[in-house]
Amino acid sequence: MIVAVDGPAASGKGTIASRLARHLGLPHLDTGLLYRAVGRAWLLYEDAPDSTRRAVELARHLDVDSIEPHALSAAGIGQAASQVAAMPAVRQALLHLQREFAHQPGGAVLDGRDIGTVICPEADVKLFVTADVETRARRRLAQLGGTGEITELDDMIADLRRRDERDAGRADAPMKPADDAHLLDTTDLDIEAAFRAALAIVEDAGARKADTRD
Ligand code: C5P
Repeated sequence: MIVAVDGPAASGKGTIASRLARHLGLPHLDTGLLYRAVGRAWLLYEDAPDSTRRAVELARHLDVDSIEPHALSAAGIGQAASQVAAMPAVRQALLHLQREFAHQPGGAVLDGRDIGTVICPEADVKLFVTADVETRARRRLAQLGGTGEITELDDMIADLRRRDERDAGRADAPMKPADDAHLLDTTDLDIEAAFRAALAIVEDAGARKADTRD
Protein backbone atom coordinates (compact mmCIF):
# COMPACT_ATOMS: atom_id res chain seq x y z
CA MET A 1 0.00 0.00 0.00
CA ILE A 2 1.29 3.48 -0.87
CA VAL A 3 0.19 6.26 1.46
CA ALA A 4 0.74 9.89 0.39
CA VAL A 5 0.65 12.57 3.09
CA ASP A 6 0.92 16.17 1.95
CA GLY A 7 0.40 19.54 3.58
CA PRO A 8 2.11 22.72 4.77
CA ALA A 9 4.87 22.98 7.40
CA ALA A 10 3.94 22.11 10.99
CA SER A 11 0.48 20.86 10.02
CA GLY A 12 1.26 17.55 11.74
CA LYS A 13 1.84 15.68 8.48
CA GLY A 14 5.32 14.44 9.40
CA THR A 15 4.25 12.99 12.75
CA ILE A 16 1.12 11.49 11.21
CA ALA A 17 3.14 9.92 8.40
CA SER A 18 5.74 8.45 10.73
CA ARG A 19 3.09 7.04 13.09
CA LEU A 20 1.09 5.60 10.19
CA ALA A 21 4.24 3.96 8.86
CA ARG A 22 5.04 2.42 12.24
CA HIS A 23 1.47 1.22 12.69
CA LEU A 24 1.27 -0.28 9.20
CA GLY A 25 4.80 -1.71 9.27
CA LEU A 26 5.81 0.30 6.20
CA PRO A 27 8.96 2.30 5.49
CA HIS A 28 8.60 6.10 5.70
CA LEU A 29 10.27 8.86 3.68
CA ASP A 30 10.09 12.48 4.83
CA THR A 31 10.70 14.04 1.42
CA GLY A 32 11.15 17.51 2.93
CA LEU A 33 14.52 16.27 4.21
CA LEU A 34 15.73 15.83 0.63
CA TYR A 35 14.99 19.47 -0.19
CA ARG A 36 16.37 20.59 3.17
CA ALA A 37 19.64 18.73 2.59
CA VAL A 38 20.00 20.31 -0.86
CA GLY A 39 18.94 23.71 0.51
CA ARG A 40 21.45 23.64 3.32
CA ALA A 41 24.37 22.85 1.00
CA TRP A 42 23.09 25.41 -1.53
CA LEU A 43 23.20 28.28 0.99
CA LEU A 44 26.92 28.53 0.19
CA TYR A 45 26.05 29.32 -3.45
CA GLU A 46 22.81 31.24 -2.96
CA ASP A 47 24.28 34.47 -4.35
CA ALA A 48 26.50 32.87 -7.00
CA PRO A 49 25.66 33.68 -10.63
CA ASP A 50 25.27 29.96 -11.36
CA SER A 51 23.25 29.23 -8.21
CA THR A 52 20.54 27.24 -10.04
CA ARG A 53 23.11 24.99 -11.68
CA ARG A 54 24.74 24.46 -8.28
CA ALA A 55 21.40 23.45 -6.73
CA VAL A 56 20.75 20.94 -9.50
CA GLU A 57 24.24 19.44 -9.08
CA LEU A 58 23.70 19.12 -5.34
CA ALA A 59 20.34 17.40 -5.92
CA ARG A 60 21.83 15.00 -8.46
CA HIS A 61 24.60 13.99 -6.09
CA LEU A 62 22.54 13.88 -2.91
CA ASP A 63 23.57 10.98 -0.67
CA VAL A 64 20.30 10.10 1.06
CA ASP A 65 21.97 7.82 3.61
CA SER A 66 24.12 10.65 4.92
CA ILE A 67 21.18 12.97 5.67
CA GLU A 68 21.08 13.99 9.34
CA PRO A 69 17.56 15.25 10.11
CA HIS A 70 18.52 17.00 13.37
CA ALA A 71 20.98 19.21 11.46
CA LEU A 72 18.30 20.41 9.04
CA SER A 73 15.55 21.82 11.24
CA ALA A 74 16.51 25.53 11.23
CA ALA A 75 14.02 27.99 9.74
CA GLY A 76 16.71 29.36 7.40
CA ILE A 77 17.22 25.86 5.98
CA GLY A 78 13.44 25.53 5.51
CA GLN A 79 13.44 28.74 3.44
CA ALA A 80 16.46 27.58 1.41
CA ALA A 81 14.71 24.22 0.85
CA SER A 82 11.67 26.04 -0.46
CA GLN A 83 13.84 28.14 -2.81
CA VAL A 84 15.59 25.13 -4.36
CA ALA A 85 12.26 23.26 -4.42
CA ALA A 86 10.89 25.92 -6.79
CA MET A 87 13.56 24.96 -9.39
CA PRO A 88 12.06 22.39 -11.79
CA ALA A 89 15.42 20.73 -12.50
CA VAL A 90 16.00 20.17 -8.78
CA ARG A 91 12.59 18.50 -8.46
CA GLN A 92 13.35 16.39 -11.51
CA ALA A 93 16.68 15.28 -10.00
CA LEU A 94 14.89 14.07 -6.84
CA LEU A 95 11.92 12.45 -8.58
CA HIS A 96 13.30 9.02 -9.33
CA LEU A 97 14.50 8.18 -5.84
CA GLN A 98 11.14 9.18 -4.33
CA ARG A 99 9.23 7.04 -6.84
CA GLU A 100 11.56 4.13 -6.26
CA PHE A 101 11.05 4.42 -2.52
CA ALA A 102 7.27 4.46 -2.96
CA HIS A 103 7.25 1.42 -5.20
CA GLN A 104 9.26 -0.94 -3.04
CA PRO A 105 7.54 -4.27 -2.34
CA GLY A 106 4.76 -3.83 0.22
CA GLY A 107 4.58 -0.08 -0.32
CA ALA A 108 5.57 2.92 1.76
CA VAL A 109 4.41 6.12 3.42
CA LEU A 110 5.78 9.37 1.97
CA ASP A 111 5.14 12.87 3.21
CA GLY A 112 5.77 16.16 1.43
CA ARG A 113 4.00 18.69 -0.75
CA ASP A 114 3.48 16.91 -4.08
CA ILE A 115 3.32 13.22 -3.19
CA GLY A 116 -0.33 12.76 -4.11
CA THR A 117 -0.18 15.01 -7.16
CA VAL A 118 3.20 14.32 -8.82
CA ILE A 119 5.30 11.65 -7.11
CA CYS A 120 2.56 9.06 -6.58
CA PRO A 121 -0.68 10.06 -8.30
CA GLU A 122 -1.49 6.32 -8.12
CA ALA A 123 -1.16 6.17 -4.29
CA ASP A 124 -3.76 3.97 -2.58
CA VAL A 125 -4.66 6.70 -0.13
CA LYS A 126 -3.89 10.41 -0.07
CA LEU A 127 -4.15 12.74 2.88
CA PHE A 128 -3.79 16.51 2.79
CA VAL A 129 -3.14 17.70 6.32
CA THR A 130 -3.74 21.35 7.23
CA ALA A 131 -4.08 23.56 10.30
CA ASP A 132 -4.45 27.32 10.63
CA VAL A 133 -1.20 29.23 10.44
CA GLU A 134 -1.23 30.49 14.04
CA THR A 135 -1.69 26.96 15.37
CA ARG A 136 1.14 25.74 13.17
CA ALA A 137 3.41 28.55 14.32
CA ARG A 138 2.69 27.76 17.99
CA ARG A 139 3.47 24.09 17.38
CA ARG A 140 6.74 24.87 15.63
CA LEU A 141 7.81 27.19 18.49
CA ALA A 142 6.92 24.52 21.06
CA GLN A 143 8.95 21.92 19.10
CA LEU A 144 11.96 24.23 19.07
CA GLY A 145 11.56 25.02 22.78
CA GLY A 146 13.04 28.51 22.38
CA THR A 147 16.25 27.21 20.80
CA GLY A 148 15.57 28.25 17.20
CA GLU A 149 16.54 31.44 15.37
CA ILE A 150 12.85 32.47 15.54
CA THR A 151 11.31 32.78 19.01
CA GLU A 152 8.37 35.21 18.54
CA LEU A 153 4.94 34.05 17.40
CA ASP A 154 4.49 36.82 14.81
CA ASP A 155 7.89 36.10 13.28
CA MET A 156 7.10 32.39 13.06
CA ILE A 157 3.72 33.10 11.42
CA ALA A 158 5.48 35.32 8.86
CA ASP A 159 8.12 32.63 8.20
CA LEU A 160 5.51 29.92 7.63
CA ARG A 161 3.41 32.21 5.43
CA ARG A 162 6.40 33.07 3.26
CA ARG A 163 7.17 29.39 2.76
CA ASP A 164 3.49 28.43 2.16
CA GLU A 165 3.17 31.16 -0.47
CA ARG A 166 6.31 30.08 -2.29
CA ASP A 167 5.37 26.40 -2.11
CA ALA A 168 1.77 26.91 -3.24
CA GLY A 169 2.64 29.55 -5.84
CA ARG A 170 5.45 27.84 -7.76
CA ALA A 171 4.72 26.71 -11.30
CA ASP A 172 6.14 23.20 -10.98
CA ALA A 173 4.48 20.78 -8.53
CA PRO A 174 2.84 23.42 -6.34
CA MET A 175 1.63 22.39 -2.90
CA LYS A 176 -2.06 21.55 -3.30
CA PRO A 177 -4.39 18.70 -2.42
CA ALA A 178 -4.82 16.05 -5.10
CA ASP A 179 -8.40 15.88 -6.41
CA ASP A 180 -8.85 12.57 -4.62
CA ALA A 181 -7.09 13.55 -1.37
CA HIS A 182 -8.82 13.35 2.00
CA LEU A 183 -8.54 16.68 3.80
CA LEU A 184 -7.61 16.50 7.47
CA ASP A 185 -7.67 19.75 9.45
CA THR A 186 -5.69 19.26 12.67
CA THR A 187 -6.24 22.77 14.10
CA ASP A 188 -8.33 21.47 16.98
CA LEU A 189 -6.77 18.02 17.27
CA ASP A 190 -3.89 16.87 19.43
CA ILE A 191 -1.44 14.51 17.79
CA GLU A 192 -3.14 11.38 19.10
CA ALA A 193 -6.54 12.47 17.72
CA ALA A 194 -4.94 13.52 14.41
CA PHE A 195 -3.24 10.14 14.08
CA ARG A 196 -6.48 8.29 14.87
CA ALA A 197 -8.37 10.32 12.25
CA ALA A 198 -5.66 9.65 9.66
CA LEU A 199 -5.61 5.95 10.48
CA ALA A 200 -9.40 5.71 10.09
CA ILE A 201 -9.09 7.20 6.58
CA VAL A 202 -6.27 4.82 5.65
CA GLU A 203 -8.07 1.76 7.02
CA ASP A 204 -11.22 2.71 5.16
CA ALA A 205 -9.24 3.05 1.92
CA GLY A 206 -7.58 -0.32 2.60
CA ALA A 207 -10.97 -1.98 3.14
CA ARG A 208 -12.34 -0.48 -0.10
CA LYS A 209 -9.31 -1.72 -1.98
CA ALA A 210 -9.83 -5.22 -0.58
CA ASP A 211 -13.54 -5.05 -1.57
CA THR A 212 -12.74 -4.17 -5.16
CA ARG A 213 -10.33 -7.11 -5.33
CA ASP A 214 -12.97 -9.62 -4.13
O1 C5P B 1 8.39 19.34 4.90
P1 C5P B 1 9.46 20.38 5.13
O2 C5P B 1 8.93 21.60 5.80
O3 C5P B 1 10.67 19.82 5.80
O4 C5P B 1 9.92 20.78 3.64
C1 C5P B 1 10.87 21.81 3.43
C2 C5P B 1 10.58 22.43 2.07
O5 C5P B 1 10.86 21.47 1.04
C3 C5P B 1 9.14 22.86 1.82
O6 C5P B 1 8.85 24.15 2.28
C4 C5P B 1 9.01 22.74 0.31
O7 C5P B 1 9.46 23.90 -0.33
C5 C5P B 1 9.97 21.62 -0.04
N1 C5P B 1 9.29 20.38 -0.33
C6 C5P B 1 8.73 20.22 -1.59
N2 C5P B 1 8.18 19.03 -1.95
C7 C5P B 1 8.14 18.01 -1.09
C8 C5P B 1 8.68 18.15 0.20
C9 C5P B 1 9.23 19.37 0.57
O8 C5P B 1 8.73 21.15 -2.39
N3 C5P B 1 7.61 16.85 -1.49
